[in-house]
Amino acid sequence: MNPRSSLRFPRLLLLACCLIGGANAAEPIKLTIEAAEPVAKVSPMHYGLMTEEINHCYDGGLYAELLQNRAFMDDAKVPVHWSVVQGNGSAATMALDPSQPFNEALTTSLKLDTTAATADAPAGVANDGYWGIPVKPETRYRVLFYAKAAQSAAGPVTVSITGDDGTVYATAKTQPLTGEWESYQLVLTTGKLAATTKAKLVLTVERPGSTWFNLVSLFPPTWKDRPNGLRQDLMQMLVDMKPAFLRFPGGNYLEGDTIETRFDWKKTIGPIPHRSGHQGPWGYRSTDGMGLMEFLQWSEDMNAVPVLAVYAGYSLKGEFVKPGKDLELYVQDAFDEIEYVTGAISSKWGAQRAKDGHPAPFKLEYVEIGNEDFFDKSGSYDGRFKQFQEAIKGRYPKLKCISTVGNEQPADRRVHSIKPDVIDEHYYRSFDEFLKMTPGYYEKYDRKGPEVFVGEWAAYETDFPPWDKRSRVEPKTPNMKAALADAVFMTGMERNSDIVTMQCYAPLFVNINPGAYQWRPNLIGYDALRAYGSPSYHAIRMFSNHHGDGILKATVSDPAVHQSVTKDSKTGVVTVKMVNPKSEPQTVEIEVKGVRSLGDRASAITLAAAAEATNTLDEPLKVAPMTTEVADVKPLFTYTLPADSIVILELPTR
Ligand code: AHR
Repeated sequence: MNPRSSLRFPRLLLLACCLIGGANAAEPIKLTIEAAEPVAKVSPMHYGLMTEEINHCYDGGLYAELLQNRAFMDDAKVPVHWSVVQGNGSAATMALDPSQPFNEALTTSLKLDTTAATADAPAGVANDGYWGIPVKPETRYRVLFYAKAAQSAAGPVTVSITGDDGTVYATAKTQPLTGEWESYQLVLTTGKLAATTKAKLVLTVERPGSTWFNLVSLFPPTWKDRPNGLRQDLMQMLVDMKPAFLRFPGGNYLEGDTIETRFDWKKTIGPIPHRSGHQGPWGYRSTDGMGLMEFLQWSEDMNAVPVLAVYAGYSLKGEFVKPGKDLELYVQDAFDEIEYVTGAISSKWGAQRAKDGHPAPFKLEYVEIGNEDFFDKSGSYDGRFKQFQEAIKGRYPKLKCISTVGNEQPADRRVHSIKPDVIDEHYYRSFDEFLKMTPGYYEKYDRKGPEVFVGEWAAYETDFPPWDKRSRVEPKTPNMKAALADAVFMTGMERNSDIVTMQCYAPLFVNINPGAYQWRPNLIGYDALRAYGSPSYHAIRMFSNHHGDGILKATVSDPAVHQSVTKDSKTGVVTVKMVNPKSEPQTVEIEVKGVRSLGDRASAITLAAAAEATNTLDEPLKVAPMTTEVADVKPLFTYTLPADSIVILELPTR
């Protein structure tokens, strides 16, 4: 799929006259907008992204590495995702060989013992990738691997991308191997072909003897052509969302099941062969190819700023670090991490950042202390948070510290003695629950603060919440019903974005292959070759791409229509967001007060589909927004919202 063209919203120059002044027998709902002066500011940081390693979000997802178990660390006993290639007279076996580590990080290698092989009948190993290898026409793939060979086997290695039916799509040969670990780099270029995932990377030798391999890597072209970079189609979809920030590295992934398996950022930087990877909390091992620098570069490439979550001494299975002396090590680690992100190159960690390829410091305004610490029943969070906050504020007074106990009910919050700048709240809620919360929920929040960061949220349309295995139905992404509830909740957040300064949906990604996912719903689905945005993706992208910088007072006579209205101070455009979660059309009489007149080039962006409609790899744009021109808008006009719809009107004012 070419994401640029397929994701462009169809722009129909269709006069929406049928929707204006539509014949609806019932009394129209009234939406009254006070457009002269905004009542508050829209937070410029309001729309962002949340990310962690779940559902093969990085490995087998955004991180463009195509080989699974590239460094043979995924399983201590067997080289999973590797198979022996033999036949036509060649013969070989393979096994993990911890007696031949590559270095201290990559502690085992793959040993290929070849008993019979020639140039015409080679033997070797193959990797099956992350549910296949995406082979595209006329594409350059970069191969890198480390190898050494016993003297008898010191011949070249042939590397090929080969179809499951035996078709060789691209091939190249190295120099003869030596007895020492050396790196080998090749470029494999495919010709004309029909794109497929039914392929493997095959490495073969043509002499009997022992050969050892390590860190075997295959990359397609990446976003901005960065080495160790990101998948192009997924990046394009994210950039199109215009996120203001990226929250990373989690989520549960930050905490780990145990302290030992937390996201230990220092082990994720520097050259790839020095990263051993670690066991993630979602049932599989991470390569750590997506390390701290890659997260920062990713934010920058989207023109977003990082919201950095630091490990704060609590892990998912209940291990925690007592505040005080025991915690100092972790506070120091956070200091070092902040210095890595923001420090001058004269500082120790700023210098390391420069060495890792980014001399300029990154912008940082928010640091999150832990994740979902309301699960910590030891009562240690207040002490841990205070220790981090005091230390961070002492050195970086401008940094805002985010607390993660926001999900406790306001009443419970009072038992905490902490004073965060921001609280992170998470809402995974059913369609009905989100509708009940909006409007009214954030209207009640104290404007004196703290700021609210809705760091994870999503509506689910299934009978069970996302963490319940019974909710894992097909597809792994939400349908239009969930998108409607998402949009309703977003109207409430945007309308209150003077206090809800940041928000982001979670999880962001899902690899839709069997066995690849642990959660539902997720925003964007993909396999090795193709990707699609769920209806919720389109709803969020619409909201994030269309808003002004001031919140206008708007009242609606019937809460069955949900709304948020903003105005752009530079252009005067009034953006009216309306959500009709009902399965019949609703006519709204819109009165825009405080303007002389409305310009004649108004537009409507509409996402409308039956509640059960959804997108999939095969029908990626079944539910997609449509832009239409709206004629004859006046300060008082009627507009009929289609059934099950999210509508954004952009009204130029004079
Ligand atoms: O988004 C999935 C998980 O939900 C996150 O890792 C965690 O923070 C929350 O419980």
